[in-house]
Amino acid sequence: MSFTGKVAIVTGAGSGIGAVTAKELAREGAKVVLVDKNEENLQDVANDCGQYGKKPLIIKADVTKDDDVKHIVKETIENFNQLDILINNAGIGNRSTIFDENLMEQFDQVMNTNLRSMVHLTHLAAPYLIKTKGNIVNTSSVCALRLLKGKSLLAYSVSKAGVDHFTRCVALDLAPHGVRVNAVNPGPANTNLIKDKEMWTDCSAFKRLLEPEEIADVILFLASDKARSVTGSTYGCDNGALLI
Ligand code: NAI
Repeated sequence: MSFTGKVAIVTGAGSGIGAVTAKELAREGAKVVLVDKNEENLQDVANDCGQYGKKPLIIKADVTKDDDVKHIVKETIENFNQLDILINNAGIGNRSTIFDENLMEQFDQVMNTNLRSMVHLTHLAAPYLIKTKGNIVNTSSVCALRLLKGKSLLAYSVSKAGVDHFTRCVALDLAPHGVRVNAVNPGPANTNLIKDKEMWTDCSAFKRLLEPEEIADVILFLASDKARSVTGSTYGCDNGALLI
């Protein structure tokens, strides 16, 4: 899959799925824009991407802050004058229930990070993606589709269900402009987001966690011309977590 000449924004690029996706895109020739609130991690990822020849653009941004989101698009266009691919991946985990005393605080934080930021960045990036007939891949989760191990993960699951439906809405809005929009729905993965690794390992038919590389492979497929007929899809990548 060649991404030569393409400009790709990856949010949450400082760690886990986003970091690996950015490196894979760089390896396939893309000019990558690395976005994360954690700047220290971004520098390490940038060094890895840089070995493939193109110096990435680093943007320290908190995607829950409106001015930071505006800055992401402005900087990208000022530097590269185009945008082909948007990987909306930044997200946080959360284990809330309806009984939690501070539920609304948690709910707002999770929705702002996992969903509202995605809506805002997509809104601002859309005019540039239309120009290049580019595409968007959103990182959702199996939790959008089903509750694993009897854990509701209330705020997280609702935010990811929102990501799936947002993906379909934007796919329909942008289809007349030749822009594709898809989501990947990973099962439990071996990243910093998962604290209780043993418990989550038991949640898949294969009885293992996904490696971020396996999810990045699906993201790159969806972002590539090989997926030219795929839009509005929520694409499973979960070691069979939805089977059990
Ligand atoms: P991670 O914790 O390794 O990486 C997430 C990155 O997002 C971090 O670098 C973090 O600094 C960044 N981030 C968080 N909030 C941010 C904000 N407000 N502004 C800017 N950057 C921010 O976790 P992972 O697993 O790589 O997560 C990536 C995406 O994958 C998330 O959307 C997560 O919900 C999703 N996901 C993860 C699964 C897992 O089991 N690890 C399973 C299904 C989905």
